[in-house]
Amino acid sequence: MKFFVDTADVAAIAELNDLGMVDGVTTNPSLIMKSGRDILEVTKEICDMVSGPVSAEVVATEADDMIAEGRKLAKIADNITIKVPLTWDGLKACKVLSEEGNMLNVTLCFSANQALLAAKAGATFISPFIGRLDDINIDGMDLIADIRTIYDNYDFRTEILAASIRSVNHMTQAALIGADVATAPPNVIKQMANHVLTDKGLDAFMKDWAKTGQKIL
Ligand code: G3P
Repeated sequence: MKFFVDTADVAAIAELNDLGMVDGVTTNPSLIMKSGRDILEVTKEICDMVSGPVSAEVVATEADDMIAEGRKLAKIADNITIKVPLTWDGLKACKVLSEEGNMLNVTLCFSANQALLAAKAGATFISPFIGRLDDINIDGMDLIADIRTIYDNYDFRTEILAASIRSVNHMTQAALIGADVATAPPNVIKQMANHVLTDKGLDAFMKDWAKTGQKIL
């Protein structure tokens, strides 16, 4: 499973990127707002740092305007993925922009039918929002599993990008189901390294080591 980082925080991306943990980046209007940066500038900076796909989202709601915005965003760098919402207009924009050779990420997906439409419209990635479904007492992972089955049934090339990931359990479940990509906030990716038994074991090793009086360096 590829790891995308769901943030427009350049320093946080850099830290994970240095460790080889970043296969791509996803942003959205809320994350741009949080960064306090200009969308074109910060997106360019991210694209220069990360070689994988970097999603930048349109904010228009009509297809023609989405297409114009998408074309402008695509000019930022070769690794830009144009992100459009899963509306009828978003699907129209996806079809046109993907046929022009761009990568497309169709976002705000909450049903298997929406994912089916996105694949037919030429999406490179479909972004089902796990956490937001969990928020309303619907198991977001069931949606990932349904889309996996449907895409595999018909050999759709669209990659499943598990999004709105809130916990390390989401990461495990997405990987078990076979999501192609998971996009997660930097803190979730870092938390994947944590285990209470690792901490306990290390503590015991350190105590025993101190008793030996030895040094390696
Ligand atoms: O990947 C989509 C993400 O940015 C939304 O996450 O936690 O706001 O539902 P969240």
